[in-house]
Amino acid sequence: MTEPTTFPEGFLWGAASAGHQVEGDNSSSDLWLLEHVAGSIFAEPSGEACDHYRRYASDIELLAGLGLTTFRTSVEWARIEPSEGVFDAAAIAHYRDVLETCHRYGVAPMVTYHHFTSPRWLLADGGWENPRTAERFARFCEVVTRELGDLYEIACTLNEPNLPFLLSALGIGAKPADRQHVPMWANAAAEMGVDPATIAPFQFSATELGYDVKLAAHRMGRDAIKAVRPEIAVGWTLANSDIQGAPGAEDVAAKLRASINGRFLEASRGDDFVGVQTYGRHVFDADGALVHAPDGVPVNQMGDEIYPQGLGSTIREAAAIAGIPVYVTENGLATTDDSQRVRFLEESVEVVAGCLADGVDVRGYVVWTLLDNFEWIFGYGPKFGLVAVDRATQERTPKPSAYRIGELARLYS
Ligand code: BGC
Repeated sequence: MTEPTTFPEGFLWGAASAGHQVEGDNSSSDLWLLEHVAGSIFAEPSGEACDHYRRYASDIELLAGLGLTTFRTSVEWARIEPSEGVFDAAAIAHYRDVLETCHRYGVAPMVTYHHFTSPRWLLADGGWENPRTAERFARFCEVVTRELGDLYEIACTLNEPNLPFLLSALGIGAKPADRQHVPMWANAAAEMGVDPATIAPFQFSATELGYDVKLAAHRMGRDAIKAVRPEIAVGWTLANSDIQGAPGAEDVAAKLRASINGRFLEASRGDDFVGVQTYGRHVFDADGALVHAPDGVPVNQMGDEIYPQGLGSTIREAAAIAGIPVYVTENGLATTDDSQRVRFLEESVEVVAGCLADGVDVRGYVVWTLLDNFEWIFGYGPKFGLVAVDRATQERTPKPSAYRIGELARLYS
């Protein structure tokens, strides 16, 4: 491994998580609706998830016990503002307690204000293709920062606003005009009494209008946070795939890199940092993405190539274009073979060390994810967790990779 001295003082080591994926019963959210309508593309509903809404204290204690010092977590807009303009004091008190618990265990929270899920009322009113969403998000940011902002120093506004553009390049996701033909959208629209073409959840809308709304929401959200607490470092976190061209298709890849990664990184320039979230690479030729891994290379649970080197490219790309500090806010591997994850984490940490050695300003490494959790449309199938969760008993069992990342954190701190 690279010399420990390559990691700067104060470098953050942590694990990430997101409300809807672990808390359970997030029933006022838009995705809860999409998980339950007939024709849902979700493999299964999130249900009680990891019951983290009640078990957060022991989960944070577990994270701290591993030797990690940062917990990236999110606040659920649908819980805090279940009806427009109505803020739930009990939900706010809950998140205060989560954040205070982090401090009790010596863990610095990194707070994401929006991690894919929105209140159902927002979806019913045009979601992430309604320009008013930006000011509604900013109002939410203002309330959260006023109520909780004394408890964290790093805030992420939006998680992966560029993901739908990556998914669309991979051929996944419905365009507005197609939404009435897809049962999930049509049924959700019928349930809410709205036109299916207007249904625009955060991670499924790859339109230019959606881009504008998200950028405005990020900027207005950032300004709202800064207006209350200027000392909080604010940025957004991006889905940074290492986008490569097959031989002869370098120009195809360059165009995709510009629209999926580049413009979001350019838009990050006024921020305090950008969160890089990398799971590997995607290789394109003129016909689209090459499917899955070349023969014989090690693959993850989804059949994709395990490619820790991708993180080196995406960190460098982010730093070069955005010109601001980088945190790796997500990096991980879906696998049922934890020895693969141990290797992946060791290699990824080495990749980060290489970036630091080249003078790139990387300030933290946060693993996705603490617990085996609800992986969106894939349900509980993919195992990204450092800690296994028994779905029947909710019992937590740290995997060897959990201890390994704790060891690496101690070694390099
Ligand atoms: C998201 C997480 C997700 C992870 C693994 C990222 O796109 O931010 O919520 O679970 O990737 O799929």
